[in-house]
Amino acid sequence: MAEAMIEVQGVAKSYPSGDGMLQVLSAVDLSIDSGERVAVFGASGVGKSTFLHLLGGLDCPDTGSISFRGQRLDDMDEPALAQYRNHEVGFVFQFFQLLPEFTALENVMMPLLIAREHSSDTRERATELLHQVGVKARSHHFPSQLSGGERQRVAIARALVSRPSLVLADEPTGNLDVDTGLRVMKVFEDVQQQCGAAILMATHNAALVERFDKVLEMQPGGSLRPCSPIPRKPVGVQPRSYE
Ligand SMILES: Nc1ncnc2c1ncn2[C@@H]1O[C@H](COP(=O)(O)OP(=O)(O)OP(=O)(O)O)[C@@H](O)[C@H]1O
Ligand SMILES: [Mg+2]
Repeated sequence: MAEAMIEVQGVAKSYPSGDGMLQVLSAVDLSIDSGERVAVFGASGVGKSTFLHLLGGLDCPDTGSISFRGQRLDDMDEPALAQYRNHEVGFVFQFFQLLPEFTALENVMMPLLIAREHSSDTRERATELLHQVGVKARSHHFPSQLSGGERQRVAIARALVSRPSLVLADEPTGNLDVDTGLRVMKVFEDVQQQCGAAILMATHNAALVERFDKVLEMQPGGSLRPCSPIPRKPVGVQPRSYE
């Protein structure tokens, strides 16, 4: 059997809380193949963002392992982990984390500039992604001059600009109306088709549920189960066109 792109085995994570520890994740198992689309639903505070941060190599589990193409993240040295975070993963943070002193366009270009992978078409690619998510007209605005949903879409463009193998998107449609949410989902799908990326999305957006191969629910105590019943999808909503 072909090796999964991501293999999560027995992952647990707790945080200090007052005098004790708060057990957020326990015994999480998951495998994700190249090109697979996985949605993770779950109540607020259940551990979705925590899980995405672990997958992105931004934090470490207490126990268990996370492997990318057969290599455990905790066996990677710092340069290899930086390579994984910066080249393989595109992360859409729940609270965007745009750089306030740079414009929308500069924020989107930033991963390529940092990786010294910029070329003559860097600006064009960033502009095209801003167009695809419907905020090209705000390219020269600073984050403080953007609405919440516009910031979110800039963060999505930034996560996709380097054509990552794995897109980790933390409630990327949380600030968007239903049809804008469908439009940005289409952008994820386009990038996925272009580069075979896998997508893991934490979401509360039931309108997107049919677009995923696997729909999981994080349980209180932090294990993942197939989602049942599948959240219901509003009908008759079409993405609207921009610009
Ligand atoms: N650095 C931290 N230190 C202590 N507790 C934390 C820390 N980060 C998260 N938590 C706690 O861990 C739990 C899970 O948080 P997490 O952000 O992963 O939830 P979530 O499922 O993403 O929630 P939401 O849907 O509201 O975004 C929460 O109860 C939160 O208070
Ligand atoms: Mg969260």
